[in-house]
Amino acid sequence: NKKLRTRVIGRQIRHFDNTASTGWIAKKLAAETDPEKLHGMVIIAEEQTGGVGRLGRAWVSPAGGIWLTILLKPKIPLDHLFMITMAGSVAIARAIRKEYGIAALIKWPNDIFIGDKKVGGLLLELAAEADTVHYALLGIGIDANISLTELSSPLKDILTSLKAEVGHEVDRVALLARVLREFELRYQQLEDGEYDSIIREWKSLSMTIDQRVVIKTINKTFAGEAIDIDARGALIIRKDNGKVERVIAGDCFQF
Ligand code: BTN
Repeated sequence: NKKLRTRVIGRQIRHFDNTASTGWIAKKLAAETDPEKLHGMVIIAEEQTGGVGRLGRAWVSPAGGIWLTILLKPKIPLDHLFMITMAGSVAIARAIRKEYGIAALIKWPNDIFIGDKKVGGLLLELAAEADTVHYALLGIGIDANISLTELSSPLKDILTSLKAEVGHEVDRVALLARVLREFELRYQQLEDGEYDSIIREWKSLSMTIDQRVVIKTINKTFAGEAIDIDARGALIIRKDNGKVERVIAGDCFQF
């Protein structure tokens, strides 16, 4: 806590050795207490037994990783809320770069990559009704000190860890403090309506923009070039037939 140089994010911290999911704890807390009072709270676990990833997938969360949820009461217009994840992705990529000098990149939508392997991911969940957002949960998973050999395939082939990349165990507290600080700066920009600077930073750290991609959504699969991202976090694709499509959710394959 001493290392934390933030004003809001992480000022309240709940730490668990083991839990099903930090997101689940956050939801429970938000149901019991006015989310306004919980704004910025970080819920962190050493291990999760029921970690949840994007598209409802299971998220393997063994000891050694950094598994956290940031509880937010956003003062951001509805149509820009997904930029919270963009701010988070930028924060993680920057934190890894600053701590270890490793060129971490963002793969659309919200994956953090080193080379061609995933090292972290983010997940935004909104509790909203009509046009009121009660709270937002930004879930963050970073494979810090997890040992890849203990993972089952295909995970061990598509993931990497900071420990594997750096060559030794990393200081998870220092990294977490850095991530929270980098995030707080960008979250402030969002609240101040400085969307362009987040989008610009996201693009400069993106390994997807200007690349050839294959997109798989629930109802179709198509190829094209990723040309841009918008304030809703949608990827803009120029398809091979010249038509332009916006993709809100799906998987992105890059070769
Ligand atoms: C993804 O699919 O890439 C997003 C993964 C997000 C995982 C984090 S770990 C902390 C928080 N608790 C969960 O159950 N999931 C998120």
